[in-house]
Amino acid sequence: MKTRLTYGMVGGDLKAFIGDVHRKAIGFDTRAILVAGCFSSDEKLGKETAEAYKVDPSRTYKDYREMAEKEAVREDKIDWVSICTPNFLHYEIAKTFLEKGINVVCEKPLCFTLEEAEELERLAKEKNLVFAITYTYTGYTMVKVAREMIKKGKIGKIININVEYAQDWLVDSLNPENQKATSLSVWRSDPKYSGISNCIGDIGTHAENIVHYLTGLEIKKLVCTTDNYGMALDLNANMIIEYENGVRGALWCSQVACSHLNGLVVRIYGDKGSLIWRQEHPDYLEYTPIGGAPELMARGAGYTKTYDAGNLSRLPVGHPEGLIVAFANIYRNVITTILKKENNEPLTEADTDFQNVSNGVDGVRFIHKAIESSQKGCWVNYKD
Ligand SMILES: NC(=O)c1ccc[n+]([C@@H]2O[C@H](COP(=O)([O-])OP(=O)(O)OC[C@H]3O[C@@H](n4cnc5c(N)ncnc54)[C@H](O)[C@@H]3O)[C@@H](O)[C@H]2O)c1
Repeated sequence: MKTRLTYGMVGGDLKAFIGDVHRKAIGFDTRAILVAGCFSSDEKLGKETAEAYKVDPSRTYKDYREMAEKEAVREDKIDWVSICTPNFLHYEIAKTFLEKGINVVCEKPLCFTLEEAEELERLAKEKNLVFAITYTYTGYTMVKVAREMIKKGKIGKIININVEYAQDWLVDSLNPENQKATSLSVWRSDPKYSGISNCIGDIGTHAENIVHYLTGLEIKKLVCTTDNYGMALDLNANMIIEYENGVRGALWCSQVACSHLNGLVVRIYGDKGSLIWRQEHPDYLEYTPIGGAPELMARGAGYTKTYDAGNLSRLPVGHPEGLIVAFANIYRNVITTILKKENNEPLTEADTDFQNVSNGVDGVRFIHKAIESSQKGCWVNYKD
């Protein structure tokens, strides 16, 4: 029986942001090792990254197509590939590996167009491959506890949702003199690399995803305004969203909200109580039962462990976990799923608790519908 996996990575060189987070997160449970990679568009940096991670030169590739081709025919081929490149490459890379029969873990947003997203979904299904999307925030223990509490009716029937994801790292680009430099140096601001949206595609998509993960509610229609402040793509967006069952909510995302760092805050209101989770204080969940005082639930505490999800915690109460652990929790389930599939063992709902290619398709639809609404200046139906 197989107990360990091997993986490859595309993107994630030594200077990149998220690839390193993936590698560290995968390392948490020591059930998979990095054996292959095409880490960079810069060959020298790609090689340096491979050396730093002791990836054999024979499995260090200049081109991801060559990597998929050569890995697919090896007896000890990689069990999955993690895609950590800018958005414009996700579709081509994912398609190339799926066609070669290799499982995929891909960064969000899944790709540029809905047609591409649905094609990837179809391909993963046809080939019976695992396709995970790293919507990071669904990996936090207290988000999973909140989801379980909502399922168990702790806040009753959902009546309102308020989610915000505010940052200020692009606030300098509000000054026209800085705009050229910003768009040249930051791929997220450039439609060629980022797609039709910057802010909604980069962080608004996380806000949409976490609400769906927590509540299971589908969007029926939305109205959105975007602000580009002279840049090619949006830097700020405000939305009203109508979900199924007439539930309404507001979503705000911004990269120019002075004083906000990585402020994802989600508030779910029901007719029996409310839940509030803040990404910058991820070990705590605020629960207020109707007529009662707010209770600050801590990850790792005995009362939190009365929920199944509370037992996913890795460190004792009061010892902060964080973003890398959230990623590790996603990978824990992805690795279990791949291992069980390879060993022909049955999968449980808990094993497959990670966001998959269908959630990736939803993410791409969300970006397109939000931009469509802001351009038309009106509500748009979600699934037409
Ligand atoms: N889930 C999250 O919380 C989260 C956080 C940050 C970024 N992201 C996503 O991760 C992706 C990467 O973002 P980042 O901030 O790490 O970007 P980055 O610019 O820091 O890194 C991009 C990496 O891709 C490599 N690359 C570019 N072209 C390549 C090619 N043709 N072949 C191989 N490698 C290539 C670059 O060399 C670099 O290593 C984006 O899609 C972004 O939306 C997700």
